[in-house]
Amino acid sequence: MQPTWPGGLRAVIASKVMTQASNLESVDFIVVGAGVAGLRAAIELASHGRVLVVTKESLGESNTHYAQGGIAVATEGDEDVALHLEDTVGAGDGLVYVPAAGVLVQEGPERVAELIEWGAAFDRENHNPGGELLRTREAAHSHPRILHANGDATGAEISRSLVAHAREIARAHRRIHFAEWTMATRLIVEGGRVVAVELLDASNVSRRIAVRSVLLASGGAGQVYSDTTNPAVATGDGIAIAAQAGAELADMEFYQFHPTALSLPGVARFLLSEALRGEGAYLRNDRGERFMERYHPQLELAPRDVVARAIAREGMGSNPAESRQVYLDLRHICEINLTERFPGISRFLATHGLSLQNDLIPVRPAAHYLMGGIRTDLGGRTTLRGLYAAGEAACTGVHGANRLASNSLLEGLVFGARAAAAILADDLGFSQTAVMGAASVLPLCEEEAALVEVLISRLKRSLWANAGLLREELTLRTGLADLAEITDALAPLNELTTGLGKGSRRLFEANALASVAGSILRAALARTESRGAHFRNDFPRRDDHQFQKHSVESDGQIRFQAW
Ligand code: SIN
Repeated sequence: MQPTWPGGLRAVIASKVMTQASNLESVDFIVVGAGVAGLRAAIELASHGRVLVVTKESLGESNTHYAQGGIAVATEGDEDVALHLEDTVGAGDGLVYVPAAGVLVQEGPERVAELIEWGAAFDRENHNPGGELLRTREAAHSHPRILHANGDATGAEISRSLVAHAREIARAHRRIHFAEWTMATRLIVEGGRVVAVELLDASNVSRRIAVRSVLLASGGAGQVYSDTTNPAVATGDGIAIAAQAGAELADMEFYQFHPTALSLPGVARFLLSEALRGEGAYLRNDRGERFMERYHPQLELAPRDVVARAIAREGMGSNPAESRQVYLDLRHICEINLTERFPGISRFLATHGLSLQNDLIPVRPAAHYLMGGIRTDLGGRTTLRGLYAAGEAACTGVHGANRLASNSLLEGLVFGARAAAAILADDLGFSQTAVMGAASVLPLCEEEAALVEVLISRLKRSLWANAGLLREELTLRTGLADLAEITDALAPLNELTTGLGKGSRRLFEANALASVAGSILRAALARTESRGAHFRNDFPRRDDHQFQKHSVESDGQIRFQAW
């Protein structure tokens, strides 16, 4: 969908009309997304030019903010760096791009040390600021290496410290500007490179800003599934606009389902951190059995994809139509105070009358993290000049087919910094021809807005049913047929934008979700094997001979390629 540009029927073109977020017609760098990857990059870029950080809600509202368990990082010298690499590669089920994982584990300790210097307060022994950092274990890690903050609010602390540091730079040097409640809706490409970005703000003003380089650090797309741990902002916008502009996507079939989201009727799928199992929680079925014994020697600490599928299978019982409850059980844990160790989770459970110490906690898997995304090299360069991506929106191949627990915050830090370095090294100038300006976009009427919501809900339910934990050709084709109908129903709404200059954030999000859904379905259909998070009932085995390769999507066509 495009806003009326440069002159729709009702659009007000006013190149000097700018909104509260900035009065900029050009900046050196635009960073889309204010999670860990975006902020880390913006901090680096600010020493070299003016940076505009664009975020759909207030600063700090991102997937990063909701990460509970922690950030995995090696600290015991080379030996642990090598083990961290081994664990990352092992969890990724034969598809990790090893040079990317090498970068992650080697550069991780320095990036985390820097974050601590900027004020991130990780939990330490005896709550003593000079005490040893506390480390926990999560699934598929060979030993405890996961730092955490405020017990189970690690992402919030990382986000807080990065926002504070970025704001300090903004105050001191006026080099970082923030466009909150603003969405990137389109990349303008000229002569094969990105030269400008269109943004839609909270007042429905669309404006075009010229730029030397753009970094998409806009996170994942959990909202494409009806069951997700992700916040409402995770609608895959960055991935969709990159694909629309012609950048390649990779590994879109690999969506990670977190095994343990709270499963209460009518309650959003609240994340119950893997650190609960790291501290000894059991998984039990409705007969009280510790069923992981039947699935994997590492039991509850098996790789995430294995645990999620085991829960799905136990939850189905012998009859797929039947739904049976699975539980987390921590009632045997006496040596730690669970309320102190997991304060946020305990508080949330208490509002639903549950306690970690005394109750079985009902759980089910939910969409959590996209291993695929915009294809990049190790410096965040996409296949489109001037466009970079980092964090969950990007795919370097670092996670392969299944991400190791708590590697995502580290990925954002390491590859956010690397993308900034690559942008500076490439040193692109402004295009001479990019046209700037702003246009008011009329809001959708009530019925149009309601239709958008209906279509989004339908898409989410369809993806969950057809491209969830267990897929097969029939379900994937059903998903594609549903998607075609949804896209057809969106078309007249999209025409309003070109005809009348109408639009809304939700309409852009609906289009982004549809675009990401299409990429997931096409890649999942093309990969006729099972690997990591992608499980095909009709092809239940891993097939290294044909598929130890990444899927690459270019203009809607999928190919497989070794990196
Ligand atoms: C969790 O706390 O279980 C989430 C951490 C992650 O996604 O790696």
